[in-house]
Amino acid sequence: MKAVIPAAGFGTRFLPATKSQPKEMLPVYDKPIIQYAMEEAVASGIDDILIITGRNKRSIEDHFDKSYELEQTLQKAGKDRILKQVRKITDLADVCYVRQKEQVGLGDAILRAERHIGDEPFAVLLGDTIAKSKTPCTRQLMEIFNKYQKSVISLKTIPNTRQNKYGVVKASPVEDNIYKITQLVEKPQNENRKCLAIVGRYVLTSDIFDKIRETEPGLNNEIQLTDAISKLDEVYGTVFDGKTFNIANRFDWLKASIEFGLETDERDELIQYMKTFIG
Ligand code: G1P
Repeated sequence: MKAVIPAAGFGTRFLPATKSQPKEMLPVYDKPIIQYAMEEAVASGIDDILIITGRNKRSIEDHFDKSYELEQTLQKAGKDRILKQVRKITDLADVCYVRQKEQVGLGDAILRAERHIGDEPFAVLLGDTIAKSKTPCTRQLMEIFNKYQKSVISLKTIPNTRQNKYGVVKASPVEDNIYKITQLVEKPQNENRKCLAIVGRYVLTSDIFDKIRETEPGLNNEIQLTDAISKLDEVYGTVFDGKTFNIANRFDWLKASIEFGLETDERDELIQYMKTFIG
């Protein structure tokens, strides 16, 4: 299976940090966000990845490319550990790029992948979202796809105060933690209930491309992927067994930075530092 990582959005919710750098290149601890998505795809068994970029996103390509000068400098300085890390990024997967020329929505961005994907099912990992779990989120979806051979999306339960930040679904259970989706709405404004929200990981069948073409501009006058998915005949969902951080929201970035920081050698120091704010 191939993967598509859309990374073409403006990042308006994270301005001014994203004025001249892609939001997907913001670091969480010591890695840019998009590298987490790339590593998740690879850990799910995918080695052919298409990144949808746009203007001002060239640093994404540079990040996954070889950097001769840097490698030579690190080699001469005997910084072997960091050299290994830098080389690993280049060797992660075969990466292709296509640009979305106008930022007219996530659905339109995914349509740019049609030529690369053809008529095979494919995974989508939003480049601004980190999914943290033991079994990679995309792997979880691929397993359900293998059983049902239909599109599958990853979900999480959110409180009613946050539903206008996500695509939300109505669904009925078909078996343990597998739901048949009956309705999808992109960022509803007036829902007042606990919702199942789309977290930014999908396995889609290739008929999604025709459905995107049939989709009229929706919320914010953009072609919404959620609207196109709702036109598919059968879609399944599963509540993700892990945590997600949508870095487009700055508070999620802050939480992710702490969470990943706590998994490093700096854990104790970080905890001590945070304690100074309590009491
Ligand atoms: C996108 C999707 C939305 C999904 C969200 C998850 O929205 O359109 O359906 O719930 O990602 O992060 P965005 O956050 O890019 O506006």
